[in-house]
Amino acid sequence: MRLLFINGVNLNMTGLREKDVYGAQTLDEINYEIVEHFSEDSCEFYQSNNEGDICTAIQCAEGFDGIILNAGAFTHYSYAIRDAIASVGTPVVEVHMSNVHAREEFRKKSVLSEVCKGVICGFGKNSYILAGESFKL
Ligand code: DQA
Repeated sequence: MRLLFINGVNLNMTGLREKDVYGAQTLDEINYEIVEHFSEDSCEFYQSNNEGDICTAIQCAEGFDGIILNAGAFTHYSYAIRDAIASVGTPVVEVHMSNVHAREEFRKKSVLSEVCKGVICGFGKNSYILAGESFKL
């Protein structure tokens, strides 16, 4: 099984920003734990703060069994990322570390969910692992 973990805007600041919401571990530390869970061969990681680069990463994901996507704030307004997801055959699971439904009003709306296989949120770094596990079912 090959999984592509894509993190969008501001996720590179994980461990440094809003630690009470996203935890104290850096994205590299979280990715290390994901590799420990699934194995090195089955995981690839990509992070970008640029919307178009996220679209390109999704378009180039042929050969992966699934994409685990935390698009960050892009989730709430990026029709470009939504169209990229809809344009490929690779299934995408949307993830969020925080429970977006228990936060500000604007976070309750995702323009991506409709074109994703499923959504997992609220489990901190384990949201990524739960999303990856879903591809084993
Ligand atoms: C997030 C939730 C988003 O609303 C926010 O903009 C993020 C992170 C999460 O992982 O909880 O940057 O996707």
